[in-house]
Amino acid sequence: MIIVCPSCKRQHKIDEARLSDKVKAAKCIYCGHKFPLPRPQDAQTQDPKGGDRGGPKMRRIAVSLSKGGVGKTTTAVNLAAGLALAGHKVLLVDTDTQGQAAYMLGVKPKAGLTELMTGEVVPEDCMLEARERLWLLAGGKSLAGVKRLIARKDFRSEMMLSEALSPYDDRFDYVIIDTSPGWDVLTINVLFYANEVLIPVSLEAMAIQGLLEFCRSLASVQAYHKELSLKYVVPTFMDKRVKQSEEIYSQLEAHFNSKLCPPVRYNVRLSEAPGHGQTIYEYAPGSPGAKDYRELVRKVSGNEKLWQ
Ligand SMILES: Nc1ncnc2c1ncn2[C@@H]1O[C@H](COP(=O)(O)OP(=O)(O)O)[C@@H](O)[C@H]1O
Ligand SMILES: [Mg+2]
Repeated sequence: MIIVCPSCKRQHKIDEARLSDKVKAAKCIYCGHKFPLPRPQDAQTQDPKGGDRGGPKMRRIAVSLSKGGVGKTTTAVNLAAGLALAGHKVLLVDTDTQGQAAYMLGVKPKAGLTELMTGEVVPEDCMLEARERLWLLAGGKSLAGVKRLIARKDFRSEMMLSEALSPYDDRFDYVIIDTSPGWDVLTINVLFYANEVLIPVSLEAMAIQGLLEFCRSLASVQAYHKELSLKYVVPTFMDKRVKQSEEIYSQLEAHFNSKLCPPVRYNVRLSEAPGHGQTIYEYAPGSPGAKDYRELVRKVSGNEKLWQ
């Protein structure tokens, strides 16, 4: 393996076979600089084209479904936090007027997406570092004004969010966007910005109906935004005691096959964590909820060996 000293940029050839797992740091023989030793598994997580990745360097994933209460915000927050724990630099964008992402992370941002879109605050100060490597661009009530702003624009209104977010281009490994229930101008803007869609769907008949409807709306955006693809369908509120849960899961499997992710089970810890301003990994790291979201992080990052 070839490693490059981050200080003097000289290359070093290292024989991996002779390298013990305990060695964590390297010292440059030219300039004496000490730095963390990259491991092959790190290379996979960091390589923008590695694992499940492909296409652009910064992955933009919209967590979306018109129906409310299916676990969108829970999934967006815990997926973003999990990717950050895995070593990725993540921006979580909350496009919902309820502004629940900040609440879930226990932070009180002074500015957020509204200030970014109106240009009142410089992009740098609109985000808040909620956790190590996890940045939040908060939503909230004021986004109602942003929607009016978008609706009034008569040219390229669907690109307003993409333009506002462009200062962050390639500064993160992942941008995870939480969306509000319903289908409005901001949802359309999110889908024009994203290149991947993750749909959380609760395992009940009503949600399946909503899913099919949402897929049709998605296709109408894809007609103009070809880079957008439905990548993941995440079954939520899985309850093995309820027969319907399993039946609907099988239906989804038949329809979405490899896009279907392992389910997130119904877990009361997931509903308690927000009240403590904590992610599921902080509030109940050993809970089924934490296990299921770790599994989702593995699937999305394409790194099956993560935390194993
Ligand atoms: N797998 C789960 N098990 C139990 N409760 C959950 C689960 N996922 C989400 N919840 C809870 O269900 C409610 C709705 O979830 P939320 O993520 O806010 O949905 P959405 O953003 O789609 O409206 C919240 O109170 C949340 O804490
Ligand atoms: Mg929500």
